[in-house]
Amino acid sequence: MRTCFNLKSKGSPVLYFIGKGWFYNAIRFIKSFHSSLQSIIINLDKSIMGGILMNIGIIVHSHTGHTYNAALKLQEQLIKEGHPATIEKVTVAGEAHPGSKNIQLATKPEVKEYDGLVLAAPVWAFSLSEVLVTFLNGIPSLKDKKIAAFVTMSFPWAWMGGNRAIRQIKKLCAAKGGTVIATAIIGKSGNDPQKLQKMIEDINGVFLAGMELSQK
Ligand SMILES: Cc1cc2nc3c(=O)[nH]c(=O)nc-3n(C[C@H](O)[C@H](O)[C@H](O)COP(=O)(O)O)c2cc1C
Repeated sequence: MRTCFNLKSKGSPVLYFIGKGWFYNAIRFIKSFHSSLQSIIINLDKSIMGGILMNIGIIVHSHTGHTYNAALKLQEQLIKEGHPATIEKVTVAGEAHPGSKNIQLATKPEVKEYDGLVLAAPVWAFSLSEVLVTFLNGIPSLKDKKIAAFVTMSFPWAWMGGNRAIRQIKKLCAAKGGTVIATAIIGKSGNDPQKLQKMIEDINGVFLAGMELSQK
């Protein structure tokens, strides 16, 4: 009688199941069912209970890759939150420098399909890169878009071009009927870890909650 309840004994029904792998498979099944259910609930919560999943276009001009790298990190987070987020590059046909006139763009992303936009570019000569200026001047409308923006710069102080670049983005967007609701300036060529993290949190926050952050 005692041996019936001894799990280590040969012939125990528990050992039989474990031996066949059924027990572990059952646990695995319950776990995966639980996590699928959790992700369904999170997505329902986001789409019904006030969170908004948006199709987001991250429109980037990046000459040497720093702004693009920051955009990649933001994209990763937005996708984790469930937003479809696509990076689209603005590129130049020929050359562009600070002060260039008549810049010809090789790639002009189409913004119409996006609910939300993130505009990103480097600071050039204490201003917004002329490439993003040319792009924003050329788009038809930004009406009804939720817009965020960030710039990267080498100096760690926003007053050395970052603030001006953000003001320019806001003005160019306003001229197309759009309002920028979250902004960030990342020094050390986009490699300031704290500023980078804050940019990701702030921009993700406005798209996730549909809230407006105060302008920085
Ligand atoms: C032509 C040029 C002008 C720049 N002017 C400034 C500037 O005025 N202030 C600043 O902090 N960084 C300036 N930078 C540095 C870039 O803003 C910074 O390295 C940025 O992260 C580059 O982004 P990207 O790699 O995406 O092109 C300048 C860089 C270039 C190439």
